[in-house]
Amino acid sequence: MSGVTDRPFRDYIRSLGQGQVVTEMIASEAAIREIKDSRKLNQAIDDEPGIIVQLAGTEPALIAEAARMMEGRGAHAIDLNFGCPARKVVHKASGSALMRDETLCRAIFETVRKAISVPLTVKMRLGWDDDSFNAPKLARLAERAGLDGITVHGRTRCQFYKGQADWTRVGAVVDATSLPVLVNGDICSLEDADRALACSGAAGVMIGRGAQDRPWLIDQAVDHLAGRAPRAAPDAGARCEQLSALIEGMLSYHGTAHGLRQVRKHVSSALVGMDGAAAFRKAANTTDDPAQMLASIRAFFCEAEGVVAAPDTTPAPGSALLAVAA
Ligand SMILES: Cc1cc2nc3c(=O)[nH]c(=O)nc-3n(C[C@H](O)[C@H](O)[C@H](O)COP(=O)(O)O)c2cc1C
Repeated sequence: MSGVTDRPFRDYIRSLGQGQVVTEMIASEAAIREIKDSRKLNQAIDDEPGIIVQLAGTEPALIAEAARMMEGRGAHAIDLNFGCPARKVVHKASGSALMRDETLCRAIFETVRKAISVPLTVKMRLGWDDDSFNAPKLARLAERAGLDGITVHGRTRCQFYKGQADWTRVGAVVDATSLPVLVNGDICSLEDADRALACSGAAGVMIGRGAQDRPWLIDQAVDHLAGRAPRAAPDAGARCEQLSALIEGMLSYHGTAHGLRQVRKHVSSALVGMDGAAAFRKAANTTDDPAQMLASIRAFFCEAEGVVAAPDTTPAPGSALLAVAA
């Protein structure tokens, strides 16, 4: 997720357990430029275990070149972004705009497939709008071109993030292909994961925003979908340690000034639903002193210890295989 799943956040998610993480969307042109110039890649992936790199772009040859370079740098899989609804991306005919040009989609699938040997997947929406629900057709094109999997966010581009993700319509994509399909959109609990799988028949789930405020949901979902009892949500003390480790990782990776700005969204997310968080959030997110931020987080969680009830998310085990953080 752009602005969220940077390297320190991905390391943090991995440190919690076994969730599979994906980079932020990386523009193919920028990836090529930065690798060729030996400039620090915006999205460093070197030595990153099992990393999936998501690429955006329009030109098949450029996306293929970026994919080849990323494979050379250790990407374990490449995911193609056919789902981003942002105007600045769509105006460059990239992201979800690609879904409007099926000939181009096919060319991208085939050209990138030929360029790399690691698994290749695509993440898309249901279509551009309600009148162009072509995700099933694109899934067939992806399968014919030799892709390895598909994720479908159950909204159209024109919906952006409004309304509810339609997991049942994702089922039409599942029916159209023999590739594994992950269902995505509005999965914020284990019950949601069960419902999304039941409605769609998908092989697994992808969790985005739900993992921002409750990162442990990913590993609970991995347990649950593997038929094991989900591990317990962390108590206030463990949440404090996890958040402090994330802050330290962000500061060390981005430097103090930029790191502080970047980590504020995570501090806000970590406090969602906690009593008395508003005043504390303001204090923690307005200081320019990392020691002060860390000290106030510790003070807040110390006070909250015993007050934070672990959410009960333990429905019957499901049958699907995979949980992934985007
Ligand atoms: C801030 C933000 C950034 C996102 N960045 C990306 C991205 O880089 N690549 C991508 O495939 N999807 C991206 N998405 C979409 C999510 O991956 C996901 O498809 C969408 O949020 C619906 O799933 P969710 O309800 O589990 O979050 C982003 C979403 C948000 C809110």
